[in-house]
Amino acid sequence: MSGIFGRGHSGSDAPAMPPRVPSPAPVPTEEAHPPMSQPLPFVRPDQQHDEPLVTTVTATEPLLESEPEPAALGPTGRPMPEFPDPKPLTSHGHARVISMCNQKGGVGKTTTTINLGASLAEYGRKVLLVDFDPQGSLSVGLGLNPHDMEMTVYNLLMDRETSLDDVVVPSGVPGMDLLPSNIDLSAAEVQLVHEVAREQTLQRVIGPAIEQYDVILIDCQPSLGLLTVNALTASNGVIVPLECEYFALRGVALLKTTIDKVRERLNPNLEIDGVLGTMFDGRTLHSREVMERLVQAWGDKVFHTVIRRTVKFSDSTVAGEPITSYASTSTGAEAYRQLAKEVALRCLDV
Ligand SMILES: Nc1ncnc2c1ncn2[C@@H]1O[C@H](COP(=O)(O)OP(=O)(O)O)[C@@H](O)[C@H]1O
Ligand SMILES: [Mg+2]
Repeated sequence: MSGIFGRGHSGSDAPAMPPRVPSPAPVPTEEAHPPMSQPLPFVRPDQQHDEPLVTTVTATEPLLESEPEPAALGPTGRPMPEFPDPKPLTSHGHARVISMCNQKGGVGKTTTTINLGASLAEYGRKVLLVDFDPQGSLSVGLGLNPHDMEMTVYNLLMDRETSLDDVVVPSGVPGMDLLPSNIDLSAAEVQLVHEVAREQTLQRVIGPAIEQYDVILIDCQPSLGLLTVNALTASNGVIVPLECEYFALRGVALLKTTIDKVRERLNPNLEIDGVLGTMFDGRTLHSREVMERLVQAWGDKVFHTVIRRTVKFSDSTVAGEPITSYASTSTGAEAYRQLAKEVALRCLDV
């Protein structure tokens, strides 16, 4: 039968297919941590027909009774652990400062800052978000009008008379505050060049917040300029959101070099808290290959949680609130709650 389905879809009158023999495991041809700049070994769609799309255990013979159940694989291709709810806190302070950093735009830095922050706040953490991008998307995404801001991070950086309390505003999410920004911040990048200790300016001005909050999340701009170096210098950790697209992998080597330089010269304690796959589409081989490549390159640094692609994120930005309140039961909201649990377990000492 030669129907519209083509190869692989035989009708009832077709001869019985021979049992499928599992293909042998591929022999690794690359070193354990290949540079990110190497291209992925793509398979053309017309070569994919006979390849299984998902690695599943399809036993043709019954499993031995003593054989343990195979652990369910998560979207990163590794067994998915259980993440406990973060324990309630009785006091606040000693914040961990985490930068969302990737010099590529549109990878989910701002979305992750808002929704990871809102999810941590749901778990009782006191959260401060810092909008450190002159585009001010974080502030707009939380419903602020860029023209109505009296004081912004710019004032905090450039004017020694301005204090943190003058600039902090509530975010609309209980337990989460915001240091807003607008286009004024782009002037700070130019003016800071002439300052003494220009790379430590953000660290100096957010210092007093560390004893008031449990987590401070900095939303970086899409560049590796002086503002981003300030964010990295002020941070204990970095989260790198990465779109699950092949081109997203390029440029990560440069980001790693920048992080290494900041660690060597300015902030010896800076850690990479994790690499987060965003805009993942589990139906495509492409997304899964990018994920596989990420795990090869970054190992356990890759979060088990991945954020799937859904239009709900753009909708919640328009609504000016996190997805965790805009569409509280959506898969996007659940993914960020799971990320919050993973982050808490990994780097918030709960
Ligand atoms: N998981 C996702 N699925 C679909 N759209 C997303 C997702 N994450 C973010 N977006 C959308 O993609 C755009 C860019 O995201 P954003 O967080 O602003 O990236 P960045 O801050 O890195 O520039 C926004 O319109 C946002 O709503
Ligand atoms: Mg952004």
